Amino acid sequence: MKVPVRRFDAIIVGAGGAGLRAAIQLSEAGLKTAVLSKVFPTRSHTVAAQGGVAASLGNSEEDHWHWHMYDTVKGSDWLGDQDAIEFMCRKANEVVIELEHYGMPFDRLDSGRIYQRPFGGHMSNFGEKPVRRSCAAADRTGHAMLHAMYQRNVKANTQFFIEWMALDLMRDEEGQVLGVTAMEMETGEVTVFQAKATLFATGGSGRIFYSSTNAFINTGDGLGMAARAGIPLEDMEFWQFHPTGVAGAGVLITEGVRGEGGILRNSDGERFMERYAPNAKDLASRDVVSRAMVTEINEGRGCGPARDYVLLDITHLDPKIIMSRLPGIREISIQFAGTDPIKDPIPVVPTCHYQMGGIPTNYSGQVVVPRGSTMNMPVHGFYAAGECACASVHGANRLGTNSLLDLLVFGKSAGESAVEDMKKFPKAHKDIPPDAIDRSLERLVRLDAQRDGADVHETRLAMQRTMQNHCGVFRFADKLREGVARIHEVAQQVGQAGIRDKSRVFNTARLEALELDNLIEVAVATMVSAEARRESRGAHVRDDAPDTPERPNGRDDKNWLKHTLWFKEGNRLDYKSVKLTPLSVPTIELKKRAY
Ligand code: FUM
Repeated sequence: MKVPVRRFDAIIVGAGGAGLRAAIQLSEAGLKTAVLSKVFPTRSHTVAAQGGVAASLGNSEEDHWHWHMYDTVKGSDWLGDQDAIEFMCRKANEVVIELEHYGMPFDRLDSGRIYQRPFGGHMSNFGEKPVRRSCAAADRTGHAMLHAMYQRNVKANTQFFIEWMALDLMRDEEGQVLGVTAMEMETGEVTVFQAKATLFATGGSGRIFYSSTNAFINTGDGLGMAARAGIPLEDMEFWQFHPTGVAGAGVLITEGVRGEGGILRNSDGERFMERYAPNAKDLASRDVVSRAMVTEINEGRGCGPARDYVLLDITHLDPKIIMSRLPGIREISIQFAGTDPIKDPIPVVPTCHYQMGGIPTNYSGQVVVPRGSTMNMPVHGFYAAGECACASVHGANRLGTNSLLDLLVFGKSAGESAVEDMKKFPKAHKDIPPDAIDRSLERLVRLDAQRDGADVHETRLAMQRTMQNHCGVFRFADKLREGVARIHEVAQQVGQAGIRDKSRVFNTARLEALELDNLIEVAVATMVSAEARRESRGAHVRDDAPDTPERPNGRDDKNWLKHTLWFKEGNRLDYKSVKLTPLSVPTIELKKRAY
């Protein structure tokens, strides 16, 4: 079959914050840059980021990048690489001011400076007390960010391919990445996008879980493509459950609500976080707050007829603050919980929100893999940034508003690296080996042929339920073991799934099946990596690794202070060291994490 070929200097897959930021860097350097996206760029999932972007601007009170770095290392439960964390926290002010210059409509203080609010785990003076570090545009920060960066890209002549789904990564025999195959969603036609630099910014994969704040488009496409092309996935056992998803609906209620003074209460009306985090209280880091909420529910202090949620209370706040700083939250609460938060508290439960792991990169955004005795060899021509990448700055638990910072800093640095690498190795496009596109075409043929195979929708549900029941906020050794067996069964089913109803509009059925191919790679990587990690750390807390004096919080630094790498081929795990040496400051030494 003859497949059309389009050539660019750089191809970016994904038009959320990381993809748009990287595209600015490439297009403004004069490179012919294409961005492929399943949705219109301003509808990418970054649009759902509400509360802010972290930067130690110190606009309301004293702050410093070193304090931000300390909080991020501590938040990561020491699994984050300290060189990358220093890089990110030091760059924060620069990328936020750049964004302001692109036209980002941040809220303002009376002084005219950018408004900043407190967020969980962000503290002043190395963990002393909460600090106002999250730069916000009301509760629609991600939305405003996408618009500012999309417009900047239009000005820079970035070429957008909207409603295109990338299918597979193309590599040559030396492993160099040569571009992707992609399908136009409306017509189903496949095209080869050939490039000197291929940059993945495909976002998260939260749809592997049944209940998620993630958009339906968050199907781990970049991770699936990478895994199938032989790239390992790093630290996939670490998933963040955001404390405040609307109970029963999963829609995000920003942590900014607690930043503005919101309080979590149990069925006794008690502000229970005082017992779990006496210093930071409701603004402890997310893993701590989510576990406290689940403990309250499990011990019978949940609210509602089934006692299965807690309440987020802002009825004591001035309605003017709610209307000006949290207008979207009020709307969401009325629409999805049937509650006006000015009058009544919002029912909330921890909900899957963010993947800390992903495609392994260095802090320059180059994808790195083990080769020989070197653990971090760059893959020529391949870059990744944002939630699909693991730089690794979030380690075992991410701090709120460090996600928007991550995508700005690493979107920019991945774009810069691609520009620099193209200058260093100027060359024509390499020939694409004929079999590089076969994998995609074969998958499409299989999906069309297997009409009697497993149903895609039911198989996806089986995967989501398995992940939710076996790999949640608290993890249990026996449930994890069963989960591994179960998720492998589901993976087999995915391999046999086909398109039954070809009459559905556009290529919806085919797209869902292709997305499931990606989701299942992420689900297997998650379950296998979680079962194997025999300690508790950050968001990964197991019943057989409890808090003891020898192992604070259940953490086992002697055996488990290392990153997991999961390889699809052979369903194999390997490990690599955590970088404990920052770029310019002393190591932030390991200690027990408490808020
Ligand atoms: O709570 C929030 O507004 C989410 C922010 C984040 O995930 O960083």
